[in-house]
Order: sequence, then structure tokens, then C-alpha cells
Amino acid sequence: MRRGGKAARIAVIPGDGIGKEVIPEAIKVLRAVVAPARRQMEFVEFDWGADKYLREGVSLPAGAVEMLRDEYDAILFGALGDPRVPSNQHAADILLGLRFKLDLYVNARPVELLHDRYTPLRQRTEGDIRFMVFRENTEGLYVGIGGFFKKGTPDEIAVQEDVNSRKGVERIIRYAFDYTRSNGLKRVCMSDKSNAMTFAHDLWQRVFKEVRQEYPEIDSRHLYIDTLSMEVVRDPRQFDVIVTCNLFGDIISDLGAQIAGGLGLAPSGNIHPGQVSLFEPVHGSAPNIAGKATANPFGAVLASEMMLGFLGWNTEAATLHSAVKAALREKFVTPDLGGEHGTISVGDWLTEWVGKNPSAAT
Ligand SMILES: NC(=O)c1ccc[n+]([C@@H]2O[C@H](COP(=O)([O-])OP(=O)(O)OC[C@H]3O[C@@H](n4cnc5c(N)ncnc54)[C@H](O)[C@@H]3O)[C@@H](O)[C@H]2O)c1
Repeated sequence: MRRGGKAARIAVIPGDGIGKEVIPEAIKVLRAVVAPARRQMEFVEFDWGADKYLREGVSLPAGAVEMLRDEYDAILFGALGDPRVPSNQHAADILLGLRFKLDLYVNARPVELLHDRYTPLRQRTEGDIRFMVFRENTEGLYVGIGGFFKKGTPDEIAVQEDVNSRKGVERIIRYAFDYTRSNGLKRVCMSDKSNAMTFAHDLWQRVFKEVRQEYPEIDSRHLYIDTLSMEVVRDPRQFDVIVTCNLFGDIISDLGAQIAGGLGLAPSGNIHPGQVSLFEPVHGSAPNIAGKATANPFGAVLASEMMLGFLGWNTEAATLHSAVKAALREKFVTPDLGGEHGTISVGDWLTEWVGKNPSAAT
């Protein structure tokens, strides 16, 4: 990370499909929100994605990781995935490459219902659905250790290793407790499957029991992931902060996204405190709607809000949050949320709102 204070340098990777449509809208709104605060935000765009991969055979260019680490404060990322690259190799190289090589061990996925209208849960309102999921982001089943034996034969065996280090488990659990404490929240729920995964998640159990003792004022509990999935739907009011492994965090945060209005509204941060970190909407490149200019830009704008919070620009972050809430209230939304507006006009609406309400937080 280069610097703090009133200036920030942002690497922009729009990627593929609707990533290239929502990220320009997020940048437009970001420029509008930082201007009155006289902050300097410099955007440098990189064309990493399927087109470059198909044209040049390059996914994550040599030296990219070091450059991002040394020269940028944050990364704003769209989405990767293109039907012309069925293996999705470029996406794995770039996104998983950055998560692992920049050691972005926290995947933060806020779940917040921003307007009652958008939850499929009956009789749930805004205050009922508001929690944070912290997904371990550098280990687990995603490290790609495994192999095939007798591939393609009737006797085939496929093995995928679940990697959990003491250091990796401890730092994500500790991050969840620290976040809870520093945000004045009360409850942490650690979720695993230690009844079946008796080695890997035994480690999670032992570390959780140790770390929780350092946070006696926080109400901490454990739920198996199957129980957690039921409870999040039955009564989401129970949760402030959920912390879990890479795979379970991937799944439970998508469930969370749906109860809070759908993929188009969900942001995420891939964070290493004090180092360059990456912010992105949760959704993918949506080839089925790419090029139609109807993609919902809210996920990208809310990811930008998280990025501003990471930079310590909290007033501007709160303004972005309020802007999205206002658009939802006014039903100025894209077709996935039942509206008739296009990506660019929603971006324009947010930009104009931010211009009229320069430091609005609701
Ligand atoms: N972080 C990432 O870059 C990421 C994440 C998920 C999927 N992907 C990739 O994206 C490609 C498509 O995957 P998928 O279809 O499973 O998931 P997706 O998120 O791209 O789309 C799922 C569904 O949600 C809709 N949708 C998603 N975002 C939307 C938005 N902003 N506005 C309106 N509708 C939206 C799509 O139209 C589609 O119907 C694949 O190549 C996949 O690997 C990338």
C-alpha cells in the first residue's frame, strides 16, 4: 500500500462481460463522491481478461502482483468469465492469483437488506437482515491441491485436499472478533462441519475456543454449517458476524445475497489489513445479459463503498450507501430488481444524487 490520507491510487480491472459495464458506473459515482471532499483518487485501468488472454495468451502479466502491491492503494475489480474460454483459466490465474499472491486472507461479504421490497423472506424488514460474513480466502478446498488416479476409467479416483493452517484459521477468526469489537457489535458465530470433518475443522474448533477467550464481552457461538444455513433463513436477526472457511463462506454469502435482494446488490472485499486490497461485486460476468446495458451497477457501487471504508474515507463511503438506498426507495433500478432503467442511467442517477447530497449518511 502506497499512502493514506487525502490521495489514493486505484488499479481498475473491469474484466469481462458486465464487469466492463458496471465498473465505469462505479468510477463515475466515485469521482462525484470524492470531488467535494477535495480528495484525489487516481484510476489506472488494466485490460486483463478474456480478450487479452485470447489475443496474447496472457492472463496475469509478469510483475503484476509486485506492481499492484507497491504502487496502488486498492484494486477495483469487475468480473471474469467468458464462454470463449471454457476452462476459465484466465479467471483462475487473475482472480485466484491475486487473492493468493497478495495474501488477501479476508473475504468480507456484507449482507444487508437496503429496502424491505427486495427480500424474498416474508415479514422481514430492513433492520432484520444485517450481518457480515467473513470467509477465509486463501486456503481450504480452493488451493488446488489434488489429483486424479485412473482418470476416465470406471475405476477413477479424484482427490481434492482441504488445506487449513493454524496461522490461516487464527487470523481470520481474530479478524472477525476484532471487526465485531471495533464496530460496536455483539455477536460472532463461527461455522464449520467439525462433526464430519474431524481433522480440518477440529483445528477450527480449537482455535475458535482459544481466541474467543480474548473477547469476553462478545457473545460467541458455534453452529454447524447445515444448521447455520437453516437459521439464516429462519431468523436472520440472530447474526452480527459470521466467520467460516473458504467453501462454506462462498455458499453462505450467496444465500445471504439472495435474502438481501439478489446478486446484483451484493458487494465484497478481498482484504489484507494494511496492504493493497481488492473490492468487487459478488456477481460474475453474466454472459446472458452482457452487452445489453441492463446490468445492475449497485453491487459495484457498494463494493466501491467498501473500498472507501478501507481507505478510511468513511463519510464518502456512507454517502454511497445512502445513494443506493435512495435509488432503491425511488425504484430507480435495473430489470433484475423489477425496474426499467439501464446501467448507465442508474449510474447517472446515483452521480446526480451524490452531487446534491455531498455528505449524506442515513
Ligand atoms: N468474481 C468473479 O469474477 C465471478 C463470480 C461468479 C462467476 N463468475 C463467472 O461469471 C460467468 C457467469 O457465471 P454465472 O452465470 O454462474 O454467474 P453470474 O453472477 O454471472 O450470473 C448469474 C445470474 O445473475 C444475473 N446477474 C448477475 N449479476 C447481475 C447484475 N449485476 N445485474 C443483473 N443481473 C445479474 C445473470 O444475468 C445471471 O442470470 C462464469 O464464467 C463464472 O465463472 C465470475
